[in-house]
Amino acid sequence: MAYISKINQEKNEWSKIDSDLIAVGIFEEKTLTDLANQIDMENDKILTNAIKTGDLKGKVGEQNLIYVNQTRVLVVGLGKRKKLNPDTIRKASGSVSRYAVKQKISSASIECFCMDSIQCQAMGEGLVLGSYQFNNYKTDKSKLFELDSVTVLNSESEMIQKGFKIGSSICDARDIANHPGNITTPTRLSEFAEEIADEGDMNLKVFEREEFTEMGMGALAGVAQGTNEPPKFIVLEYNKGRDSKPIVLVGKGLTFDAGGISIKPAASMDEMKYDMCGSSTVLGIFKAIAKLKPSINAVCIVPSTENLLGGNAYKPGDILKAYNGKTIEVLNTDAEGRLILADALSYASKHYEPEYILDFATLTGAMVITLGHIATGIMGTDEKLIEKVKNSAENTFEKVWELPLWPEFLKQVKSEIADVKNIGAARQAGTIAGGAFLKEFVGDNIPWVHFDIAGTAWGSEPNSINPKGSATGWGIRLVLDMMKI
Ligand code: BES
Ligand code: MN
Ligand code: ZN
Repeated sequence: MAYISKINQEKNEWSKIDSDLIAVGIFEEKTLTDLANQIDMENDKILTNAIKTGDLKGKVGEQNLIYVNQTRVLVVGLGKRKKLNPDTIRKASGSVSRYAVKQKISSASIECFCMDSIQCQAMGEGLVLGSYQFNNYKTDKSKLFELDSVTVLNSESEMIQKGFKIGSSICDARDIANHPGNITTPTRLSEFAEEIADEGDMNLKVFEREEFTEMGMGALAGVAQGTNEPPKFIVLEYNKGRDSKPIVLVGKGLTFDAGGISIKPAASMDEMKYDMCGSSTVLGIFKAIAKLKPSINAVCIVPSTENLLGGNAYKPGDILKAYNGKTIEVLNTDAEGRLILADALSYASKHYEPEYILDFATLTGAMVITLGHIATGIMGTDEKLIEKVKNSAENTFEKVWELPLWPEFLKQVKSEIADVKNIGAARQAGTIAGGAFLKEFVGDNIPWVHFDIAGTAWGSEPNSINPKGSATGWGIRLVLDMMKI
């Protein structure tokens, strides 16, 4: 676990701040934030003069280091003052933590230059996210530097701490996803769920292979046939919302996807350790719920297994029976995510009366072709819920794009000999086929949205709040916003 363990908050004048790095802001209009102004006034216009050199432009993403009396002052660009938004604050704050990590500066501070409490939350999030590193497997620890804390100057806002808690939960989600498949096994996911349950006073049920098979989860059982690593069906319940209906979150927990008998090509197959990122997103959300203890009811469901090949593995042509009784013709064992989700969505629909269901899955390679690593494709049947998702996507700057679930697409997953088949029309609209298939397992009249995070869960351009070669924790901020946490 390498990210800051706390954010201090301190009110102080410039001359009394005991810090090796102080970050302040500049806007594109060439105006300075409060503390930057103070530093400027008390030090012979050092920043105003720097502006005159033309180096300080105030553009978003800009960073300039200026030495003032043996203190490093990092001036970060914040763009146009009127356009200041949480995303800019989050990334600017992340860049400050990142800078401290890179320069091995253990006492760093940042001025709170936020305009409102939402921006303060974003600052808290950004400071944690920017400090995140995944160093667990580097054995020469002398080369590593981990930042332990950051201080926010001149803000008493509680929202900074809320942002810290959310940021920490996102980092925990990244960590569990970044560990390889031999460490993040279904068993490890169930242990993570147990840690969350303990912290958040939640109810945890973990069904083993024999139990869920007996219960009728033939789809998960089918995919899990080919692995010796014990599969799990994990259910976490959080009940602090009186009589309200629960929000149910489902996450694909495929801890390694070799494709099964329909084996994947070798190139980049290692990346399929990330095929449990749906589960790390929903568990990350529950980690944040455990820390923030909101008055809601929510359920988290994670079907988890590996998808391997061998003498016991399920085969193309096999017909499986899902938990809701529908039969599935398996035409490609690599379309396994939708199979394990079929049981999870059926279970959610049968045992709860959900206000709505959201599922998260690295479901289709076609998603990466469609929207790259920029946005998550969403599909659903309830327009109001889809609007709500889009609205929270805008609030949190986690981009989504809706794809249609038209009847023509729904038809494409019908099977000749079983109720449905696990692939759509060859080489056509692969992501939508995934959504169309899942719809068959969501109870009638339950609002539901499917998030295909195949492009966004990892692999996006590194930036100040997400390092290279790491899972992102995509979607945690978005759902917490939807839940009004
Ligand atoms: N986990 C993969 C999807 C995936 C592939 C995500 C590459 C990110 C990058 C999923 O289980 C899968 O293999 N899907 C198949 C479905 C196909 C056989 C209908 C795919 O996308 O190729
Ligand atoms: Mn697959
Ligand atoms: Zn998969």
